[in-house]
Amino acid sequence: MEDNRYKIIDGKAISELVKQEIAAEVTEIVAKGGKRPHLAAILVGHDGGSETYVAAKVKACEVCGFKSSLIRYEEDVTEEVLLNKVQDLNNDLDIDGFIVQLPLPKHISEQKVIETIDYRKDVDGFHPINVGRMSIGLPCYVSATPNGILELLKRYQIETSGRKCVILGRSNIVGKPMAMLMMQKAYPGDATVTVCHSRSKDLVKECQEADIIIAALGQPNFVTAEMVKDGAVVIDVGTTRLPSDKTKSGFKLTGDVLFEEVAPKCSYITPVPGGVGPMTIVSLMKNTLLAGKKEIYK
Ligand code: GUN
Repeated sequence: MEDNRYKIIDGKAISELVKQEIAAEVTEIVAKGGKRPHLAAILVGHDGGSETYVAAKVKACEVCGFKSSLIRYEEDVTEEVLLNKVQDLNNDLDIDGFIVQLPLPKHISEQKVIETIDYRKDVDGFHPINVGRMSIGLPCYVSATPNGILELLKRYQIETSGRKCVILGRSNIVGKPMAMLMMQKAYPGDATVTVCHSRSKDLVKECQEADIIIAALGQPNFVTAEMVKDGAVVIDVGTTRLPSDKTKSGFKLTGDVLFEEVAPKCSYITPVPGGVGPMTIVSLMKNTLLAGKKEIYK
């Protein structure tokens, strides 16, 4: 049945609000003689998506009152050069936190890079120490996309306790940490979590029973109306760039959810763009503020 009372979760608006909150705190820190947080980002090559994300991160730093440094390498940079740079940043006392934008070219081991980052500066929350601490509920840097989703659930006061939450996708940066966080003994959390992936047998049925669906497969328009029960909460993490002759950039950012037909069945739904995406960047800013304040690790 059609129900047009669904609410769009406005990630863009919430992200602006959170950035203002961060900026106010930074002003206060600096006024008291404290250190302005400093985020560095390493970008390898010229992938369109990565360029856009890193530019948005640098811009967000400016809005938050952070110092930022962008370090660029060409696609053919060696693993050794990159690892040495990571070590330099680990040892640089002025840098509070840094990220290496993924994906990296095939000749570089992402895992090696991630494990070389000092976990105390790993504001992406990708280092095994942060992932491990997150999974057992210890203070840590939580990876940005899942944390941004938690923030949206919180700000919209969406009930999660005892709810059936289906996560589509099992990536290290979204699906897996999201599952851990939704099952943690906390709010948001306390959900009954099911993770579906490419080998799942009854994915459609699982989705149909879900109170909350978090779609993070990277398959445009995968979630259709028949998969969603009335009143469900749908969070769309997809950001596939599909070619389009209707936009200036020549592509259209497309989510994993067929918004037009799914939205009318939902209680809440995130749009693409303007849903999870802006929150991901804000989560990185929050982690950078925590790093600047040495709040998690001394
Ligand atoms: N590539 C896609 N998402 C991310 C992210 O959150 N951090 C980094 N470093 N790379 C990414």
